[in-house]
Amino acid sequence: MADWWDADGRRHRKQFSNAHSAREHEHRETALAHAERASRELKMAKTGGGRRHPKEPNSGTMDAAKGKLGVMIPGMGAVATTFVAGVEAIRKGLAKPIGSLTQMGTVRLGKRTEGRSPKVKEFVPLAGLDDLVFTGWDIFEDNMYEAASNAGVLDYRLLEQLKPFLSSITPRAAVFDHNYVKKIDGPNVKKGKTKMDLAEQLRADIRDFKKTSGVSRLITMWCGSTESYIEPTAAHQSVKAFEKALAENDEMIAPSMIYAYASLMEGVPFANGAPNLTVDLPVMLELSRKNEAPICGKDFKTGQTLMKTVLAPAFKARLLGLSGWYSTNILGNRDGEVLDDPGSFKTKEESKLGVLEHILQPGLYPELYGNMFHKVRINYYPPRGDNKEGWDNIDIFGWLGYPMQIKVDFLCRDSILAAPIVLDLVLFLDLAQRCSELKGLGIQEWLSFYFKSPMTVPGLYPEHDLFIQSMKLKNTLRHLKGEEMITHLGLEYYD
Ligand SMILES: NC(=O)c1ccc[n+]([C@@H]2O[C@H](COP(=O)([O-])OP(=O)(O)OC[C@H]3O[C@@H](n4cnc5c(N)ncnc54)[C@H](O)[C@@H]3O)[C@@H](O)[C@H]2O)c1
Repeated sequence: MADWWDADGRRHRKQFSNAHSAREHEHRETALAHAERASRELKMAKTGGGRRHPKEPNSGTMDAAKGKLGVMIPGMGAVATTFVAGVEAIRKGLAKPIGSLTQMGTVRLGKRTEGRSPKVKEFVPLAGLDDLVFTGWDIFEDNMYEAASNAGVLDYRLLEQLKPFLSSITPRAAVFDHNYVKKIDGPNVKKGKTKMDLAEQLRADIRDFKKTSGVSRLITMWCGSTESYIEPTAAHQSVKAFEKALAENDEMIAPSMIYAYASLMEGVPFANGAPNLTVDLPVMLELSRKNEAPICGKDFKTGQTLMKTVLAPAFKARLLGLSGWYSTNILGNRDGEVLDDPGSFKTKEESKLGVLEHILQPGLYPELYGNMFHKVRINYYPPRGDNKEGWDNIDIFGWLGYPMQIKVDFLCRDSILAAPIVLDLVLFLDLAQRCSELKGLGIQEWLSFYFKSPMTVPGLYPEHDLFIQSMKLKNTLRHLKGEEMITHLGLEYYD
């Protein structure tokens, strides 16, 4: 089976006799689609069609971030505790929000000569860190202090200073199915006759949190384990089919989908930090649009894929060929243990593999990228804990076909890279739910910047190039505020 996209961004699927002919077909069709789109865009540019007046006022409105924002986290493990502990440490003035675009980033406005570069958080109305209130669900009963201590990411001296706060956040009972995460099991799990019962229990948790915490708005942020690989079925195609399947305990409904359904039914936006399908399904898009609860995903782009989506665009920009990219990881945290199961690994593998094809466009550049070999491995290696090593061997070729090699050895800290992403997603999704132009769209593609496998509307291929994603995000903010888009054309400086 192979996919390709036509000039209008529609996805097509076809069965082929072997992988080679599928690939050939895909490359040919993608190349045609790009050529057709380019000529259409050229025509539009010539006639002036499709050009937006730079100062065209934006018709949308953004409500102020009044009141508290409740952050609900299914999965209170390494990433979630590093995020929550970090927010508290920053609130107490003990640390800086390094890695967070919403806290440290700026956005350039107007010409380079204007010197206008406000901080993102001053440019758009984001919730302040002091307004964040947390709750979560987990299959283990540890409070956030215990879970953070077990995760072993943060120094115990920092954790001691945050102990009263972190100990006060205890997990609610989880919706869990061992068939979807085979390597772990825990006692803190809800019971219900049907999956619909479980969804109702989650909805009651959400309402309870809203009432008892006094927050004015909510966000759900999936930081739970990676679930086993599944493909969408008829049960995921509409709200009606999904609700029937929930009532009938359909085995194709994973726990993360039950959280997503409960959140969206309560009108709460949902972000997915793992590669599971979760909200990447027609049923969730339907619910999200109907209830104006924005969604985004999948899979935080933190270490190796971050590097990949920086390097691959450079090769393409300089027309350097790629014959192979071998990526391996060793990590020893619980996430690594979960990914040691072939079902969970397959979900992660799919998410990590997609990026190169989309960035390098082998259909457009068959001599450079038509025969690349891409392999991704993840190995559970307990001595490393959360300090993952992501190692890449990249075989490229240049002028006259001469081969060269690049080695990348990223000695990273998984959750340290993920925590600022969680913070930004929480604040931007909350902005989206207060923004008239964004809240009814469903998928928030402008947040692709944060994901390995960005969600798009069905039929549209995702943008993986980190710099395109960054420009898309910042231009979205400019657009929402009625500011000029930045195209980097720059001819006006030489008039
Ligand atoms: N750099 C990163 O850390 C990174 C990058 C991309 C994606 N992710 C994804 O983020 C997720 C969290 O990573 P982590 O390192 O914190 O893992 P972790 O194992 O430390 O934490 C996951 C937690 O989820 C809990 N859980 C599992 N199923 C649940 C359910 N149905 N309901 C409630 N809780 C459930 C587990 O008990 C565990 O405490 C994983 O899916 C991981 O693949 C992490």
